[in-house]
Parts: sequence; structure tokens; C-alpha cells
Amino acid sequence: MLLPIFLYGNRVLRKIAKDIDKDYEELPQLIENMWETMYRSDGIGLAAPQVGKSIRLFLIDGNDLAEDFPELKDFKRVFINARIIERDGEKVTEAEGCLSLPGIREDVTRYDRIKIAYQDENFNSYEEVFEGFASRIVQHEYDHIEGKLFIDYLSPLRKRLIKSRLTAITQGKTEVDYKVRAPR
Ligand code: NI
Repeated sequence: MLLPIFLYGNRVLRKIAKDIDKDYEELPQLIENMWETMYRSDGIGLAAPQVGKSIRLFLIDGNDLAEDFPELKDFKRVFINARIIERDGEKVTEAEGCLSLPGIREDVTRYDRIKIAYQDENFNSYEEVFEGFASRIVQHEYDHIEGKLFIDYLSPLRKRLIKSRLTAITQGKTEVDYKVRAPR
């Protein structure tokens, strides 16, 4: 089932999301719906707050970008109860976008390497290191469960330049070919 994507301005995008356990209601169905929603909207990652759930769950499939970023080959994961435990390496700048911020693409500087502890959809625990673009996608999705958005990293000047577009998004004035929910 396709889920509406909550647009910028919805308060759920600003909450620090909560841990979940195996008993979380209809979790397998939610994960399946999130995959379907992500693929249909041509996303490479989707976090639960973007579908209105303030829980520590996000999923990523980077395979579509593997031609440009070889580190994304076979990078498909469900992350539950994730905690980034190390960030290091160089700082790298690349453009990012977000399904909750349609039409906005801006350069974001992030660490090139992270170590993250998480559980998969079967609640097996892992500690894994990601580098390059994989690390960037994980940090972007992780920010969603921490109530952050990539526009938070922009300079005051860049923020001023996109302000009218942000306002339009909060008013639901955006043309996308996926289902969205504007803030109420
Ligand atoms: Ni996003």
C-alpha cells in the first residue's frame, strides 16, 4: 500500500523518534509499505517520520546509483533503532534532495565515514562502517529519526534563497507525482 509522504512543515519531521521492539504493531506491513512508497517515488531512502511515524526506522536501497557510486552496489538495508557511534574521515560536499522537500537540491557537507549500530527487520544487531555515498545516505536518513533535515545545514544565505520555496511546500503548493501530506 502506498503511503502519503509527509512534507516539510509537518511536526513529525521535527521529533526525535523512539526505539521500537519486535511487538511494534504491524511492523512487517509498515516496512513493506515503506519500500513500495520509496520505489514508487524514486527515492533511495525513506524514514518512518516521513510517513508520519515517529519511530527509529529507515530503509535504504542505493542500487540505482551504483553506476556512479560503486559503494552502493548491493547496499539495501532496513535500519531499526540505529545509533551513529562514530563519524570521521574527510568532510565531503555533495548535493542532496529529500522526498519531504520536493524541488529542493542543495549541497551538504558531511563526514565521509560513519560507524553505526542498528538492528535489521528481524531484530538482529549489527555494527557496520559505511563510507562514501553510502555513508551520506545513512546520515541523511538518520537525521530524519533525529528530527533533522538537510536544509538545517545550509548557510543563512542559502536558507534565504530557498525560503519562498519552503513556504510553498508548507502550503502544499508543490507538484510531485507521489502522494503527499501537507502540514495542517
Ligand atoms: Ni530525506
